[in-house]
Amino acid sequence: MRVAVLVSGGGSNLGALLEAERAAGPAHPSRIVLVVSDRPEAGGLERARAAGIATAVVAVRDRTPDEVSAEMVTHFRDRQIELVLLAGYLRLLPAPVVREWSGRVLNIHPALLPAFGGQGMWGRHVHEAVLRSGARWSGPTVHLVDERYDEGRILAQWPVPVQPDDTPAALAARVLEAEHRLYPIVVARVAESLRRGQPAEPLSATTDLLAGPTADSFMPHSEPFTASSPEDPQ
Ligand code: GRF
Repeated sequence: MRVAVLVSGGGSNLGALLEAERAAGPAHPSRIVLVVSDRPEAGGLERARAAGIATAVVAVRDRTPDEVSAEMVTHFRDRQIELVLLAGYLRLLPAPVVREWSGRVLNIHPALLPAFGGQGMWGRHVHEAVLRSGARWSGPTVHLVDERYDEGRILAQWPVPVQPDDTPAALAARVLEAEHRLYPIVVARVAESLRRGQPAEPLSATTDLLAGPTADSFMPHSEPFTASSPEDPQ
């Protein structure tokens, strides 16, 4: 599966996805062939160039949605993109792109959707809202992308505990570590399904994420929810 990754920032999730591809070698079911950003200075573009991957900047500011959409579709078609991954992309994906790659666009969000999502919920705003709410758990969500912010079908989540003395930065770092583990696993599963002609389906944390060689080291900071866990919220 030929993959495009969209970034607006540093691209640490892009780095994790590239590392997963490298570790799996030719057996990996997908390959990142294009990295697109709305910002020419995005660190993710630099990361892509260093890995020898084609990059493109599709500016959004002062342009109509139709112009943005047409340029993005052209880039994707030129590279025969089959799967699109948003990894810290802060813009709404144009509707024609969502439609043409329907069921083939994923996003990672740094909180447990459907809470703490939507427009304006990005970066430290998310973690500040989690801390303000008193929630005891946060963690990344990987979901399908539709035409609204953070509302597509949830494919996978991983719970990360909120500590009593957390700051937004400390919580962000703990969640980001989980993102780097979760996103590559979900992407490989989805790419495998799509390659077999099957749609992207939700992964079950206990049966899917914990099965296989990554199980023991999967998430050092948290345990999956189980009925008997003493940390299980009431
Ligand atoms: C991540 O927290 C991701 O969940 C959110 O944006 C951040 C991107 O970080 N959508 P990076 O650019 O991958 O380091």
